Amino acid sequence: MARVLLLGATGTIGRAAATALAGAGHDVVCALRRDPGDLPAEVRLADVTRPGGLAEAMGRDGADAVVSCLGSRTGLPQDAWAVDFDANRHALDWAEAAGAARMVYLSAICVQKPRLVFQHAKMTMEATLRASRLEHVILRPTAFFKSLSGQIARVRAGRRFLLFGDGRLTACKPISDRDLGAVLARAVTEPGWARRTLPVGGPGPALTPLDQAETLFSLLDRAPAVRHVPPGLLSGAARALDVAGRLSPGLAARAELARIGHYYATESMLVWDAAAGRYDAEATPEYGADTLRDHYARVLRGEVAVDLGDHAMF
Ligand SMILES: NC(=O)c1ccc[n+]([C@@H]2O[C@H](COP(=O)([O-])OP(=O)(O)OC[C@H]3O[C@@H](n4cnc5c(N)ncnc54)[C@H](OP(=O)(O)O)[C@@H]3O)[C@@H](O)[C@H]2O)c1
Repeated sequence: MARVLLLGATGTIGRAAATALAGAGHDVVCALRRDPGDLPAEVRLADVTRPGGLAEAMGRDGADAVVSCLGSRTGLPQDAWAVDFDANRHALDWAEAAGAARMVYLSAICVQKPRLVFQHAKMTMEATLRASRLEHVILRPTAFFKSLSGQIARVRAGRRFLLFGDGRLTACKPISDRDLGAVLARAVTEPGWARRTLPVGGPGPALTPLDQAETLFSLLDRAPAVRHVPPGLLSGAARALDVAGRLSPGLAARAELARIGHYYATESMLVWDAAAGRYDAEATPEYGADTLRDHYARVLRGEVAVDLGDHAMF
């Protein structure tokens, strides 16, 4: 049992991590900007984006480990640097000053091929953590279930599933919130994971968007009905918005959102084999047991609601 400071516990994975850490018998304290009132852990209100914000909230209390599931809610440049980098770096500073033994940082598998601002912010955090004195574990998960659930409502309403290209441009091994929460809890104490950067997939096989569409339609007992969308639409929109964005910060932000959309339409969330120049499903480690099919079935039965957050388009 350890005393664990958890950041980002109001988020999708942070919430699952709080449950897994408490379930593993750890003494969990969450630093948050708002208390949702239903977390299985102690809550301290803190502005984690400000240097010293955590120190004020924690006072003289220390922790054996810090787990960060903090992430920018929008992915937009200013927010990404403020949250994905600054807030996490403040957490690292606090962990070092408080004498914590380990920091577990939830990054993302897409930083392997960084093109987006939030990916650079996450990579900078990863590098800062690796250079620190602290024992660290960096987890790079593949796609979360919520990110592959955005089309359930439209398909259920009788509309077609939208596929970029032929629906086989990308693949991923999706992981459930619960399974990733368990991996985060394991990372707090697993001796063999110290100072490692680990890609984290869910149970295989790797699924393409076409596989996701077929799964959804088979659960609805309907023939697949899809609409093909050229991914170039998003890259074209990003270029146009970049030009318009010189006049308006709002349009510049939309350009970054279009780039994010194009990235996920064309890049897989699997381990990237740089030497071979391809994604490698076999090399993407599998954790947990929850399948996307079961998740879709539970959503369709109304047993779980999907909070798409700010990434509703994915
Ligand atoms: N979606 C995917 O498929 C995927 C795949 C791989 C990796 N990831 C990464 O995994 C991480 C966790 O994702 P998630 O979906 O669980 O995130 P999420 O649901 O968006 O939650 C983000 C957490 O960070 C906190 N946060 C954001 N901005 C903040 C700010 N300015 N000040 C204080 N707290 C702030 C949020 O607090 P509030 O509730 O107060 O806003 C929340 O607790 C992210 O870094 C994400 O990029 C996502």
